[in-house]
Amino acid sequence: MRKLLVSGALALSVLAAGAVAIAAEKEVHPPHKHWHFQGPFGTYDRAAAQRGFQVYKEVCAACHSLRMLSYRNLVDLGLTEAQVKGIAAEAQIADLNDDGAPVDRPGKLSDPFKRPYANDAAAAAANGGKAPPDLSVIVKAREGGADYIHALLTGYVPFEKLTPAQIKEFEVTKDDNYNTYFPGHKIAMPAPLVDGKVTYVDGTKTTVEQMSSDVTEFLAWASEPHLEDRNRTGVRVILFLLVLAGMMYAVKRQVWADKH
Ligand code: HEC
Repeated sequence: MRKLLVSGALALSVLAAGAVAIAAEKEVHPPHKHWHFQGPFGTYDRAAAQRGFQVYKEVCAACHSLRMLSYRNLVDLGLTEAQVKGIAAEAQIADLNDDGAPVDRPGKLSDPFKRPYANDAAAAAANGGKAPPDLSVIVKAREGGADYIHALLTGYVPFEKLTPAQIKEFEVTKDDNYNTYFPGHKIAMPAPLVDGKVTYVDGTKTTVEQMSSDVTEFLAWASEPHLEDRNRTGVRVILFLLVLAGMMYAVKRQVWADKH
């Protein structure tokens, strides 16, 4: 019986290893990048995240919603309340007036971010059948997190640069968008960024690489805005426990002092 179990377990692990090896062959892993917000002391790079918000607002917001954020959340990103009020007021939000008739009014701090499409069906219809996903928690939702989002945004390969083998294997046509990091490579989103697509207010050069890192930093913040508070609490708890351990040790020595 035991022998049977052992050989069963062995066979299973060999199978599992094989499956992992096959999966690893097919997937292209996003290159690892250093992010400010990783690790127990992680914080967001506010300047990068603010530039990233500018990229989202001027480029991605045309197709992608960010439903879990309200305009007032931008104050946590380091923008002033006056700036945020201005940003909100630029958006025309659908609402009802006092008589119950539909109207568009300027956005307020308490409004959720304006969505580009009324619903998923309209979003899909406008994008060749694939609705652009909401980006509120995309950094958490995708394997590889920030590394993946950054790689995706910088990972487009123009049709002319593809090898005949790639074109054949993935059945790519001139009308497809080929992305090295998207599973299956053919993605309904055309490359959203080209050098100089936005003009940063802080004067940072807008290369595709720069805009991709910045918008990823912003989306990471959007998916976990309280990360810094949690990290701070974690560090305080550890410090408290260290002090407590020291005190307990001193007490123990006191109590047992005359027994030595
Ligand atoms: C013209 C519309 C359009 C714009 C602009 C656009 N996207 Fe997309 N995006 C899409 C569509 C459509 C999909 C769905 C792709 C698919 O599933 O094939 C998508 C998918 C995505 C995904 C999910 C990929 C995955 O793994 O499923 C991310 C992340 C993303 N977009 C980020 C961005 C960012 C960041 C910007 C701004 C720099 C942006 N997009 C601009 C249309 C757009």
